Amino acid sequence: METKRWTIHSDEMNNHAIEEAAELLRNGQTVAIPTETVYGLGADATNEAAVSRIFQAKGRPEDNPLIAHVASKQQLLHLVDTLPPVAEKLIDAFTPGPLTFVLPENGTCARNVTAGLSTIGVRIPSHPVAQALLKACHTPIAAPSANISGKPSPTTADHVWNDLHGKIAGLVDAGPTGVGLESTVIDCTQEIPVILRPGGITREQLERECGTVMVDPALANTAEKPKAPGMKYTHYAPDVPMWLVDGDCANLQAVIDREQQQAKRVGVMAGDNTAAGLKADKIVSLGSDLPDIARNIYDTLRLFKNEDIDVILCETFPETSIGQAIMNRLQKAATAYISE
Ligand code: TXA
Ligand code: MG
Repeated sequence: METKRWTIHSDEMNNHAIEEAAELLRNGQTVAIPTETVYGLGADATNEAAVSRIFQAKGRPEDNPLIAHVASKQQLLHLVDTLPPVAEKLIDAFTPGPLTFVLPENGTCARNVTAGLSTIGVRIPSHPVAQALLKACHTPIAAPSANISGKPSPTTADHVWNDLHGKIAGLVDAGPTGVGLESTVIDCTQEIPVILRPGGITREQLERECGTVMVDPALANTAEKPKAPGMKYTHYAPDVPMWLVDGDCANLQAVIDREQQQAKRVGVMAGDNTAAGLKADKIVSLGSDLPDIARNIYDTLRLFKNEDIDVILCETFPETSIGQAIMNRLQKAATAYISE
């Protein structure tokens, strides 16, 4: 299949591209779209055949439910059975934005969106192009991240192209995404809301708005079965093994030296300060603060694929604010954890 690609510059909305992409979506085709977190692979959430094309293109297991994207709170209300007061509070405070609500569903979306669950994940993205597309489609859009299942999520249109061209009908390129990591998934079907996946909106931000928020124990304890089905799969795996290394700069350098002595070519990803103090075969600075680091992680994991590197070493980061999501994704991508 030929993949049509449109480019939209941040300073002007390309209405022609939006109309063409929306028409493909309305006709049951798959189109990759930018959001403020990562690129998503969209299809009409009310059309079962369209949704199954998403699973095919990504090679995604069918028991992993998709997020339905809508333009507004009003549109969200069409997809859910009830809206608990706590969800309404969080919707008013954080949407449009990088937060996905798990709520009782009402059967509007196709069965394969929810993978047979009685709940649905719904999100109102803030990206202006995602908003324009959703409004032009007049239908909810099911969209997982637009990567081959198990690979790092795409933060640029080129990432999507490399993974999926020829397998999807369209790609709307609106430049790099903003947050760089996926939305926070929050289960609002319980008395106290539960974070199933840390992401763009932090626990601290949520608690300021609605009091106590729990975190799915499975995120800390590998023996627990995660409640977000997607969290049980290996994720974001780079093509080169990646090890997380705890400790300071000297610690990291000691591991680099040890591996190089065994004739391995060593790549490093670390924050600016740490990166500046190291010597290795290739060093990528992720940025100077946690939001910058979040934005650069997936691109960096992909970048090492084309390098002649045997192992990637990555520094650990404090689990405050967006650091929770950063460490969650790094732990999923890592094949080993070294603390010495
Ligand atoms: O930022 C994002 O959320 C991006 C952009 C494209 O919106 N989307 C994304 O989708 O990350 P995906 O499919 O890669 O991840 C969705 C996660 C999975 O872990 C899935 O299991 C969980 O949300 N999920 C979806 N519906 C659920 C439900 N009803 N109950 C529990 N978890 C659910
Ligand atoms: Mg994903």
